[in-house]
Amino acid sequence: MPLSETPDPDTFDALARRALALVMPGHRAVLGIAGSPGAGKTTLAVQLAARVNELSAASGGPGAPFAMHLPMDGYHLAESTLRRLGRLDRKGAVDTFDGWGFAALLQRILVERDHTVFAPSFDRRVEEPIAAELAVEPETQLVIVEGNYLLVDDGPWAGIRGLLTEAWFCQTPDAVRVSRLVVRHELGGRSPEAALDWAESVDGRNALLIESTMARADLVVSGVTGAVISRA
Ligand SMILES: Nc1ncnc2c1ncn2[C@@H]1O[C@H](COP(=O)(O)OP(=O)(O)OP(=O)(O)O)[C@@H](O)[C@H]1O
Ligand SMILES: [Mg+2]
Repeated sequence: MPLSETPDPDTFDALARRALALVMPGHRAVLGIAGSPGAGKTTLAVQLAARVNELSAASGGPGAPFAMHLPMDGYHLAESTLRRLGRLDRKGAVDTFDGWGFAALLQRILVERDHTVFAPSFDRRVEEPIAAELAVEPETQLVIVEGNYLLVDDGPWAGIRGLLTEAWFCQTPDAVRVSRLVVRHELGGRSPEAALDWAESVDGRNALLIESTMARADLVVSGVTGAVISRA
């Protein structure tokens, strides 16, 4: 959905221009957007990629796939793996993702420029990743990656910050996030009570870790209005 609550359309456009400016000739830039569950990372990244492509084309440069959106969600561990590891009841926690795999993908994106780099997507209908559904084409010069744990300074995640040309943190008030998550969990088949419980307990625990990583971002962006909240 559009960032319809944006009070001033120029604020979102300023972000898109900033993202476009990350691309230096001959180099592929990676913009990372971190944030808590339901903060609006995916919505922001999808719209940014579309707007950057428009701005590039309008100035005589290449359009899509010049900029693309690449979610971390495809690195969710399969449910069968989570069951084997005894982690299915906290799906979405930091240790329910293949962090090393995601870090390796980012390294490949930076060096493998002469062929398509395929990446997994995440299908919310079945709650499972799908191999190689996403494609980073050689023409792509700005990859907008987004996910919960991009700025965690531990284990496989610790090296990711150094691979990002710039890092943004998408911030949304807890009450707004929780109400968004409840809607999503209900659509996924949970009862209203179970949806609220998951949003507050499992998602809430994850949000505590994620919010603690905000200081590692260059820019804090509102997941409600798409405007800059603060700069590093
Ligand atoms: N600016 C906005 N105004 C109104 N609704 C929004 C806005 N941004 C996102 N939403 C809605 O909030 C919900 C969560 O957004 P989104 O999926 O982008 O969040 P996310 O941070 O990617 O979540 P997750 O961590 O679970 O992947 C969606 O239903 C989306 O349509
Ligand atoms: Mg998302």
